[in-house]
Amino acid sequence: MNSLFARKPIAALVPEGKEGVGLKRQLGTLDLVALSIGAVIGAGIFSSIGTAAAGQMAPDGVTVVRYGAGPALVLSFVLLGAVCALAALCYAELAAMIPQAGSAYSYTYATLGELVAWIIGWDLILEYAIGNIAVAIGWSGYFVSLLSGFGITFPEWLVHGYREVLLAPPDSPIKHLLTDAPNIGGIPILLNVPAFIIVMLITWLLVIGVKESNRVNKAMVAVKLIVLAIFIGIGVQHIDTANYTPYAPNGFRGIHQGAAIVFFAYIGFDAISTAAEEVKDPQRTMPRGILLGLLVCTIIYVAVGAVATGLVPYQQLLANDPLAAAFNQSGLERFSWVIALGAVVSTSAVLLVFQYGQPRIFMSMARDGLLPGWAARIHPKYRTPHVTTIVTGFIVAVGAMLGDAGETYDLTNIGTLFAFALVATAVLVLRKIDPDRPRPFRVKFVVPVAGGAVFACVFVMLGLPASAWKAFGIWLAIGLVIYFGYGYRHSKLTRGATPRSPEA
Ligand code: ALA
Repeated sequence: MNSLFARKPIAALVPEGKEGVGLKRQLGTLDLVALSIGAVIGAGIFSSIGTAAAGQMAPDGVTVVRYGAGPALVLSFVLLGAVCALAALCYAELAAMIPQAGSAYSYTYATLGELVAWIIGWDLILEYAIGNIAVAIGWSGYFVSLLSGFGITFPEWLVHGYREVLLAPPDSPIKHLLTDAPNIGGIPILLNVPAFIIVMLITWLLVIGVKESNRVNKAMVAVKLIVLAIFIGIGVQHIDTANYTPYAPNGFRGIHQGAAIVFFAYIGFDAISTAAEEVKDPQRTMPRGILLGLLVCTIIYVAVGAVATGLVPYQQLLANDPLAAAFNQSGLERFSWVIALGAVVSTSAVLLVFQYGQPRIFMSMARDGLLPGWAARIHPKYRTPHVTTIVTGFIVAVGAMLGDAGETYDLTNIGTLFAFALVATAVLVLRKIDPDRPRPFRVKFVVPVAGGAVFACVFVMLGLPASAWKAFGIWLAIGLVIYFGYGYRHSKLTRGATPRSPEA
């Protein structure tokens, strides 16, 4: 029993974070804001916004899977901005204290013990790998839209995954593919080939060691901002205010459930908290950078949401490329390729960041003995964790080829929100059991902030459909079986290879 809650001492964590030792403190508030926009703005705003506004019907065409927010989607964004601000502050405190590659996994190992750390590491697969399945599907939607603008079209069965068609309601224009697509023994062949190819391409780049540099990130941020500014600037002139009535067609239930899916648009700001050690004067810069980054993203999201739901009746946003579709349906086809291009660039950047992060979390877990040693192997020439990068890449690519975006957004969101709640809990626990440890960044009013973060994350989770909770439960159960079947017995901490925290 004791082993389950064994804590890795923070002192043992810090030297492992080699990249984190001795880094120059050179990042200012604006750098943090740029980092935040780079990691955050992607498929969420370009793609998941459609389902968040319009809601979703089950394949039977009768049951409501989720209620849409309608034009009140902008309120969902405001709500999420506040929720994420609370969670982000908690992340920043732990990231500054424990600068190491494994992110929330490492934080919980030091605070809540091995079992919870395993759960969170397992859970983070949902944020990174499953999240990337959703981003790749979003990428593909806009890529296909972009090429169709140039007269290049693909057979439909090569750009829609099996689950996407299966879960579509009966009146969906792709439903016919279930019977019309080529089949093998009655099973339709429905493959999102562009999604598969982009993930494999990014995997290859990461294996050979391409890393998004600060300069590339800034260029991508510029593209995102310009394209969204074009969407807002041109779109606002074509708003039909009649589309704002009814404003909240499903009341608070729609705003809440819309927020639960569009939360995806905010994922990624946690990644910037890991820069805490490179920030000048972190006590001031960290909260400013994080909150300003969130504020900028929230303002952009609110403006995009207001324009998108003003351009067309919100139901028409239900598409793989909702922003381009909104332009197309408003007689602005000539600009929709710009939106599609911006979405392709933005989502590629997010794919790169997440696909970079996941293998490193696996690596941290393997180093601790919770996963087999091959997962920590580094390529002799490229110095990258090539085995986990390739394994992750292949699984994500196949998932994106066959998956449904809505389903994967849900699973990613529930897993990420759960991780945020655990991180906020860890902040409270660590204040209690290790109050004197230096905290380069210290959350003010920690009880209302961290406690509020836990409450707010659970509240957003409750807006997700039952199917997401079921899938999440199954995911956690599989994780526990693997932990007790492997990690528990191979853990370096409990086998004495790593010293335990004295209080554990
Ligand atoms: N926030 C990221 C996106 O929207 C994950 O693509």
